[in-house]
Amino acid sequence: MEQKRTVLVTGAAGFIGANLVLRLLKDGGWDRIIGVDSLNDYYDVRIKAYRLDRIASEAAGHPDTEWVFVRGNIADKDLVMSLFVQYRPAVVVNLAAQAGVRYSISHPDAYIESNLVGFFNILEACRRSYDGGASGVEHLVYASSSSVYGSNAKVPYSTEDKVDNPVSLYAATKKSNELMAHAYSKLYDIPSTGLRFFTVYGPAGRPDMAYFSFTDKLRAGEPIKIFNYGQCLRDFTYVDDIVEGLVRVMARAPERRTGPDGLPVPPYAVYNIGNSHPENLLEFVDILQQELVAAGVLPADYDFEAHKELVPMQAGDVPVTYADTSALEREFGFRPSTPLREGLRRFARWYKDFYL
Ligand SMILES: NC(=O)c1ccc[n+]([C@@H]2O[C@H](COP(=O)([O-])OP(=O)(O)OC[C@H]3O[C@@H](n4cnc5c(N)ncnc54)[C@H](O)[C@@H]3O)[C@@H](O)[C@H]2O)c1
Repeated sequence: MEQKRTVLVTGAAGFIGANLVLRLLKDGGWDRIIGVDSLNDYYDVRIKAYRLDRIASEAAGHPDTEWVFVRGNIADKDLVMSLFVQYRPAVVVNLAAQAGVRYSISHPDAYIESNLVGFFNILEACRRSYDGGASGVEHLVYASSSSVYGSNAKVPYSTEDKVDNPVSLYAATKKSNELMAHAYSKLYDIPSTGLRFFTVYGPAGRPDMAYFSFTDKLRAGEPIKIFNYGQCLRDFTYVDDIVEGLVRVMARAPERRTGPDGLPVPPYAVYNIGNSHPENLLEFVDILQQELVAAGVLPADYDFEAHKELVPMQAGDVPVTYADTSALEREFGFRPSTPLREGLRRFARWYKDFYL
């Protein structure tokens, strides 16, 4: 029987994962898409259910692609192994993780479980996919983060820079993922690409992120805290741009080669994916305000100034994130380009439809 060409996406009910699955369904080309997600309650699970509903409706219109959703935890090794044996994915995209910098201070265990144990299980399953001479996994793509740059002073951040000084456990787990992937690429010739995402935003995004939580708070008439007195620069990246980058990268795995010692040269790559255009936090809040009013989320006479608190920096946060994306541009002919106003407009409209 012919093998069904399968892609496995972990974190498929998550913000980026769900958008990726929608795009893969629209593009076609896969016989089967397997989505795995534990549906944890780190944030409002209704948003995860909403994303899964959207995927189900999209999948209904694409009968050539089988969509399979598995609710499960990637820290469960037996589950991960059995999924790989049953479905034999050609491409694996690991997006399941405990995200967020601040939560890693109050809930460190969640990061070890999902980001280290979970990622290790994915690597082991990739390794075992070649057992018995099987063609196995052709490409493992996984989410890293701009947080690996810690408080590096040199900007823009380049993948050539040293990233040995994480300032949060979250960042430490993401850097560890890159190190683990390198070792497994070298040892077992697993083609792997890590993508360091820079502050991703968009409709049905993560409620723990500033643009979303600011919106919730302003609606509730609560003050919003603007850290580092607004003197933060963030490279905001619209989710469709991230998905475009993911799709292009998925299609081209780092090449397998043999080195002069007769051993594999690790087919390993890491790229930044960000807007390369950092915005000042105060300007960002200003655009968000305007778009929330334009979308009808907040009234035109809302007293924004009365709801802003300028406060010092928080532990684990960094003052600047700014991506050098020249490598991605050179090798994949792509750079994120959605303007912040456009992206926030789409978020504000979605928010209105979802909550009001
Ligand atoms: N959104 C950003 O700005 C950003 C920036 C840098 C890196 N990232 C990384 O990108 C990836 C996706 O992020 P996102 O913003 O979509 O986050 P998200 O929280 O919306 O999605 C992650 C999904 O993974 C699931 N999950 C968590 N642990 C799991 C486990 N052990 N087993 C199975 N499922 C599990 C969650 O239920 C969630 O639905 C993550 O790895 C994150 O660290 C995101």
